[in-house]
Amino acid sequence: MTTETLMSVQDLHRSFSVSAGMFRPKRKLQAVNGVSLDIRRGEVLGIVGESGCGKSTLARMLLGLIPASSGQVSFDGEDIATIDRKRLARRVQPVFQDPYSSLNPRQTLLDLVSLPLRVHGIGNAAEQRKRSLEMLDRVGLPARFADRLPGELSGGQRQRVAIARALVMKPDVLVCDEPTSALDVSVQSHILNLLVDLRAELGLTYIFISHNLAVVEHIASRVAVMYLGQVVELADAATLFRAPVHPYTRALLMSVLTPEPGRGIPDPGLGTAYPDPLHPPAGCTFHPRCAVRLPECSAVVPPAITTSSGSIARCVLAQRETVS
Ligand SMILES: Nc1ncnc2c1ncn2[C@@H]1O[C@H](COP(=O)(O)OP(=O)(O)O)[C@@H](O)[C@H]1O
Ligand SMILES: [Mg+2]
Repeated sequence: MTTETLMSVQDLHRSFSVSAGMFRPKRKLQAVNGVSLDIRRGEVLGIVGESGCGKSTLARMLLGLIPASSGQVSFDGEDIATIDRKRLARRVQPVFQDPYSSLNPRQTLLDLVSLPLRVHGIGNAAEQRKRSLEMLDRVGLPARFADRLPGELSGGQRQRVAIARALVMKPDVLVCDEPTSALDVSVQSHILNLLVDLRAELGLTYIFISHNLAVVEHIASRVAVMYLGQVVELADAATLFRAPVHPYTRALLMSVLTPEPGRGIPDPGLGTAYPDPLHPPAGCTFHPRCAVRLPECSAVVPPAITTSSGSIARCVLAQRETVS
């Protein structure tokens, strides 16, 4: 794998205006609050964090589906805000959590998978059919499935269709947002293994989003841990799982050791509840739940520190590690 930067996220913010009650003024909710990341060609960048931390909002900005409030996403050096939506879609494709709602129930699998080719005018009808059948076959749905409807499939099979449709235009990047979270545990690993094989075979780059660190461990080469709209730790997967720096990452790792890590939102054993994003805590936003907080943590916003092992963490303790 090279370290060539394929996509770059710079100080990305996205807020939503939400109602706080009938006669109250609307409030600003910071869903993504200053994320900076490089996505390297050929890697699997895992993004992990509890529900509501801003993963899907970040994913939608990476796909160019919603604009940023501020900051920038670039692809191959170009600001995606200036790239034509169709041209970006040829390079960056999504796989979402719910294959039930993302597949038109009245279209056959062949129609569903060939649609992007027809929309983009790639090849003639015979070529589109051939390429779509090949892709369906590649994800484990041989030709006899071509005329079936999504309703005749299992959840795992539908997610295979969604993957085939995302890959049929040969994109560079797949943004997978909780692609296995709606599936039975037994099926999850089949889909994960399929994604692993396809990445190697087709030379793809993945951004792989999950609330579940155990799933991310299975597939990611680097991992970004998000908390309340920010990346609090970013490290090579091996380093992150061996030597987590941020107390939040440590708590998430402990939660992976539950008996059935594939199921549902992990209980991170963090005591107090996830904060209301409309009222983020002052200082380090994690401090109310942090087991090792210092008095200063409620006042001081921790800067991003690079530790000796190359991890980047937003925690004053990381600072101490590097100073001593
Ligand atoms: N369209 C929207 N309008 C208002 N709030 C939103 C919208 N989309 C997301 N949010 C809020 O932004 C925060 C992050 O949401 P999301 O990106 O979906 O997180 P995740 O995918 O990590 O669960 C949440 O507090 C969520 O309620
Ligand atoms: Mg989400």
